[in-house]
Amino acid sequence: MGTGSRRRHLRLLAVCLPAALLLAACEASSPSILEPAGPGARRIEGLWWILFWVAGAVFLVVLALMAIALWRARRTDASIATHVGWGEPFIVVAGVALPALILGAVFLVSLGDLAALSNDEGDDALTIEVVGKVWWWEARYPNGAVTANEIHVPVGEPVELELTTTDVIHSFWVPRLQAKVDMIPGRVNRMSIQADEPGRYRGQCAEFCGLQHANMAFYVVAEPPQEFEEWVAMEAAPADEPVQSGAARGRDVFLGSTCAGCHAIRGTPASAELGPDLTHLDARATIGAGLFANTRANLARFIVDPQEVKPGITMPPTELTAAELDALLDYLEQLD
Ligand code: CUA
Repeated sequence: MGTGSRRRHLRLLAVCLPAALLLAACEASSPSILEPAGPGARRIEGLWWILFWVAGAVFLVVLALMAIALWRARRTDASIATHVGWGEPFIVVAGVALPALILGAVFLVSLGDLAALSNDEGDDALTIEVVGKVWWWEARYPNGAVTANEIHVPVGEPVELELTTTDVIHSFWVPRLQAKVDMIPGRVNRMSIQADEPGRYRGQCAEFCGLQHANMAFYVVAEPPQEFEEWVAMEAAPADEPVQSGAARGRDVFLGSTCAGCHAIRGTPASAELGPDLTHLDARATIGAGLFANTRANLARFIVDPQEVKPGITMPPTELTAAELDALLDYLEQLD
């Protein structure tokens, strides 16, 4: 590489690095472990800051020693090489004893955090089964409620999650609430989450699992206990009977087409479990595992050509006339 080209690279780096940092700072809506919203995430944030300050202090000490060495090398000549007296003990203390002490202390702190994070909440806590699938999340509640990609929990209470998968390895991660936990075929991993404030906390699959790994998002929705009870009772109920004639026609379209081969709508003969349970589809804010807002237009796009909006997913395109699609959308939109 010539000097000119190297200089150009350095200039590019000088321009791009601050821009990238600025961009990262502006991305305020992305969830950060440094904005914990529950006891689990607060532990992780504490550990993060300990590591940050320890590593920062070590970095500064090394820089200072390097500056001293450079300064002495300029000032004097070969005579500095004669300090054999304290050179060896210094290397033993600063290069072996101190790092062992610091790393040992950090290890002990993290062991304490690990034990606290994997605490079992006992039999009283609400237990939700969460199943990772390519590329969405199924949540099952003890009262029979089944939903997808939006996991409601009561605020201020510990909730037990039983995490597994029916296909490949995924990793369940809600940065503002807890650590990551892998979902492994044939195994149930447990974790406890708790949200201190009501809100929607974004989660993301944190283990590469195929083409749509990046679009495997979800939300944990924390709400006051009363609201949560109402929600979970509503989710456990079968779907409402369509009152409007268009919606009734839409139900016939649903049951007579490929839709019913993969999706369940409780209260109808559709009971397949390959795709998300759609019994209360309209109660969800997003579709496609957090990919789109749950609007009529987005539903239509998803039904007509799912491979265009989320390439690689299991869902095939659905062959429908315009009138059939309209009726189907009428039906889906009243599944609240
Ligand atoms: Cu599921 Cu990555």
